[in-house]
Parts: sequence; structure tokens; C-alpha cells
Amino acid sequence: MTTAIDIQSLEARHVLQTYKRQPVVFVRGAGVRLTDIEGRSYLDFISGIGVSVLGHAHPALTAAVSEQAGTLLHTSNLYYHPLQGQVAARLATLSGLQRSFFCNSGTEAMEACLKFARRYWYTQGVRGRTGYVAFEHGFSGRSMGSLSVTANPHYREPFEPLIPGVTFVSPDDVAGFEAAVTDTTAAIVVEPIQGEGGVRPISADLAAAIERVCARTGTLLIADEIQCGLGRTGHAFYYQALGLTPDLVTVGKAIGGGVPVGAALVAEDVARQVLPGDHGTTYGGNLLATRAALVVLEELMDRGLMAHVQTVGAHFEARLLELAAKYPVVRAVRGAGVMRGLQLAVDATPVVEGALARGLLVNRTAERVVRMLPPYTVTTADIDEAIVTLDAVLAGLPAEAGAQ
Ligand SMILES: Cc1ncc(COP(=O)(O)O)c(C=O)c1O
Repeated sequence: MTTAIDIQSLEARHVLQTYKRQPVVFVRGAGVRLTDIEGRSYLDFISGIGVSVLGHAHPALTAAVSEQAGTLLHTSNLYYHPLQGQVAARLATLSGLQRSFFCNSGTEAMEACLKFARRYWYTQGVRGRTGYVAFEHGFSGRSMGSLSVTANPHYREPFEPLIPGVTFVSPDDVAGFEAAVTDTTAAIVVEPIQGEGGVRPISADLAAAIERVCARTGTLLIADEIQCGLGRTGHAFYYQALGLTPDLVTVGKAIGGGVPVGAALVAEDVARQVLPGDHGTTYGGNLLATRAALVVLEELMDRGLMAHVQTVGAHFEARLLELAAKYPVVRAVRGAGVMRGLQLAVDATPVVEGALARGLLVNRTAERVVRMLPPYTVTTADIDEAIVTLDAVLAGLPAEAGAQ
């Protein structure tokens, strides 16, 4: 029988070592639980980094994807099929942005938005309006374009030079932000809640400044909703909670429920400047991808999943605040809905490893943040179970951890 060691050593020999994996091999999932190769069960509070939002092996998603695989998977964008328009129409209802461009990942969605923003100015005969203003702690992907608007030097430096004309400003420096936007700025890129950056919502002051600057200068706004969007916070999109009116929105992760799907949502006045042949991808919006997206959107829009996220999200926050009150090492509880971060005073690695050892999957981001992105279908009982585990893990940290 193949063992975890066999699997790990085969990968060690043949898979490019770009990931530091946790030492566990998952073979099955159901709802909010995963099972490893030794038969051990885990409570999944990371859902494949915010992807499996209906939980694992969701009956409607499983049935739809299986049925689609037996009917027609792919035809390319040379032809029409019945599903792309339906998904785009639903995304338009949720976002207020009329048009979708479909792709296969969050990174590709950002890449598309960066191109569409430049195209918007170019088509109108404006030359030199090619720059971007983005924020420190932001993360928008690792392709050359999306990495160019990702702040972390650790990801950027080995691959420089990246695309020129990107200015990073601190999300806490509103005046600095206003000064950074010039007549060479094509677009501002913002994650309404910075995910990889530590589950940090941007401030109301910054949101107001972004709206002000865009209204004054006509600069386009790209909201990166790949992690915080599509119902995760109890809002369809978090830019709506902040009162932002983006021209372009990136979508990924949640939208396919585990099938790789991304989308750039585009307002009509930008869409008018984008012409046939400007952008494209072989797989984007194929039947498998859009069938899966349709199931996720139906659950969100027709079956009360967003209201469920609001209810369980409030419970989650209350329970995490109890932990913060009990353990001084927890400095803050951040996020909204089922997108949550515990800001610690110390490195989060022992908490992530301790939780894994007790059968709970969470993840470390921005060094000192324990990030949790459970499926939207998570129940209050699941949350209570996770809190019991986190409580035990935090209790086991060295006493000096809280004093730092
Ligand atoms: C906000 C944000 N933008 C972009 C990306 C990149 O998406 P993907 O990994 O699907 O290419 C991520 C992934 O973590 C993300 O969280």
C-alpha cells in the first residue's frame, strides 16, 4: 500500500520544490472535514486557501461537475456555449459591473485587469497613463504583471525588473496615497481586506480617499476581491461594505468551489474600450468551470448561503474575541464573516502546527497572523470545536509569549 512517506519522497524527487508543505497527505473530504491517508479526520478551517467554500464533496457541486464531465467539458472561446453568459449575468447582479472576462485563476484575473486598465487609456488616445498605485502588504499574484503590484520584496526581488511605474504606499498613509496618484496613473489596485498581508481591512479613511481621488482624476480602481469577495465576509463583495465603486474587480478562489476559475469583472465604460483580440485564454470560462461557478453562485444567491455566512460569522467573531480576552498573546481579531485572522504577539507557526496536531487546519500569514478561511457552510458547532482546539493550543504556548 502507498504510504505518506512514499508520496512525499516521490514528490521530493520530481516536483519542483516551490512549496513548503505540511507533512500530511489528504485523500478524501466531506463537508468541513478532510481525511488523511492514515484515516485521520481534520476540521478544515482553511478550505484550500479559501477555495472550497461549499465544503468538500458538496452534493450539488459533485453532481453538476460529474454530469458536465459526461456531457461536454471544453470547446474553447471560438464558440458559444450556454453557461458563460449565465455566470456573467449573476456576477453582474452581485457586483453591479456588467461584464465578465473568464480565466483560470486569481492571478490571471489581476493580469487581465491590469491590461484592461491600460487599454482603457490607450484606446482613448491617452499615452503615458500606464502606472499603478498599489498598497504595502498587498498581494495580487506572482505572474510578472500581478507580482508588479504585489508589495512583498521577498516575492519580487529575485524577478526584477518587473513592470515599471508601480508606486506602493502604506494603507495607513492617506496623504501619501493622495500624493502618489498622478497623471501617469492608469489605476489604483486595492485589496479591500488584505488577505496574505494579515487579514487587514483597509480603513474607512483610505476608502474615502480612494473614492475622492478617483472622482477627481478619473483614475480607474481595481478591487482585488479574489480572497475577500463573493460572500466570504457576509457581503457579496467587501468593496461594497467600504463604499468603493471600482471599475474593475478580480474574482477567483471561491467562485469555482475547487474547480479552477477566475474572472475579471468590468464596468461598461471600461468594457467599451476593450476590443476583440485584446486578451484571451484557451480554457477561460469553459463548460466545466462555468458549471461549477453556477452551482456556487446559486448556493450564494438562491439558497441563503450569504445569510448563513453573516450568522456564523458573527458567532465566529464573538468566540475569537473570547480567546483574545483570555490570552494576551492574541493582540487582535480581524476580518469579517468567515474570513478571520488572529494577530499574535509572536510567530504563528507553533499555533498552526499545534492545531494540525490536534486535527484543525489553519494557516500562518504575515508571520504573526493565524488565518482562518473555513467553508461558507461551516456551522456554529464546527466553530465551537475549532475554538476548543485553538484554546488548547494557545494554553500550551510558553508563558513569555503573551508578554512580548
Ligand atoms: C487577494 C489575492 N489576489 C490574488 C491572488 C492570486 O490568486 P491565485 O493564487 O488564484 O492565482 C490571491 C491568492 O492568494 C489573493 O489572495
